[in-house]
Amino acid sequence: MFIRLENVFYSYFQHTPFEVQALKNITLTINRGESIGIIGRTGCGKSTLIQHFNALLIATQGSVLIDGEKIQKKSSQLKNIRRKIGLVFQYPEHQIFEETVFDEVGFGPRNIGISGQKLEETVKWALESVGLDYQDIHKKNPFELSGGQMRRVAIASILSMRPEALVLDEPTAGLDPEGKRLILKKLKTLREENGTTLVLVSHSMDDLAMIAERIIVMDQGTIGLDSSVRKIFSQGKTLEYYGIKPPTTTRIAELLQEKGFDIGNGILTAQELSERIAEKILKAGKH
Ligand SMILES: Nc1ncnc2c1ncn2[C@@H]1O[C@H](COP(=O)(O)OP(=O)(O)OP(=O)(O)O)[C@@H](O)[C@H]1O
Ligand SMILES: [Mg+2]
Repeated sequence: MFIRLENVFYSYFQHTPFEVQALKNITLTINRGESIGIIGRTGCGKSTLIQHFNALLIATQGSVLIDGEKIQKKSSQLKNIRRKIGLVFQYPEHQIFEETVFDEVGFGPRNIGISGQKLEETVKWALESVGLDYQDIHKKNPFELSGGQMRRVAIASILSMRPEALVLDEPTAGLDPEGKRLILKKLKTLREENGTTLVLVSHSMDDLAMIAERIIVMDQGTIGLDSSVRKIFSQGKTLEYYGIKPPTTTRIAELLQEKGFDIGNGILTAQELSERIAEKILKAGKH
């Protein structure tokens, strides 16, 4: 049990006429090493939810526990939590402010007293974890980089604190397909090599089919569904209710089923889809 929410409620502008109840009675456990996708209609509370994971927002009711320790508003504890759980906002490149990539990525570690060779090693590791070459890039001005590179620098600047969990709000939004693929691949490797827990908020079911093992569907401030990625994406009709279209591959598989081409369900990736089709064709050829 790494991150645990118990009966969490959150309201913006509480006790005012403008109060918005954004989370309602959320109970949720995230274990170390999981890879979780959070989906749901716009305004359903995804961004509000993930900001509770590193105490950027504090529940107006209920509790959040990190490694069994209840979040209170003590600053020493909050610092610790934010080092453990790195949060990457939507369009994080808008928050870049240093003049070199090195300073940007090294900002967090420097702040906690890391310097010299250790700092250099940390920055190098963070940049390489997102697929950027240290020598090529560390002296550049972040604003000279392409959109995809800037996004990766922004992710590296959170990674440089070596968080145990990385929580990302729409990490591939607005990127071209190549930029998307690269970031997802790097996040996957990060988890495989370091055991980093991943939580991704995304509107792209295709992205989540590639990277997530568990999916949480939110609905008007509550959790609608919470299950394995295969189970979630194979319930086309239920998903429709939550305003979600399953990944392209899953939909193609369903269409083939409807046309009488029985290739089974729970298909997630293009690789799986092509293998199932090939199997089916080979079997048909034998009759
Ligand atoms: N800073 C804020 N002040 C007031 N209300 C807010 C604020 N941020 C979000 N809300 C409201 O809280 C609710 C949940 O919003 P939230 O941003 O968490 O949804 P979301 O699922 O992340 O949406 P999206 O998919 O559009 O990013 C919405 O009704 C939203 O209007
Ligand atoms: Mg959001």
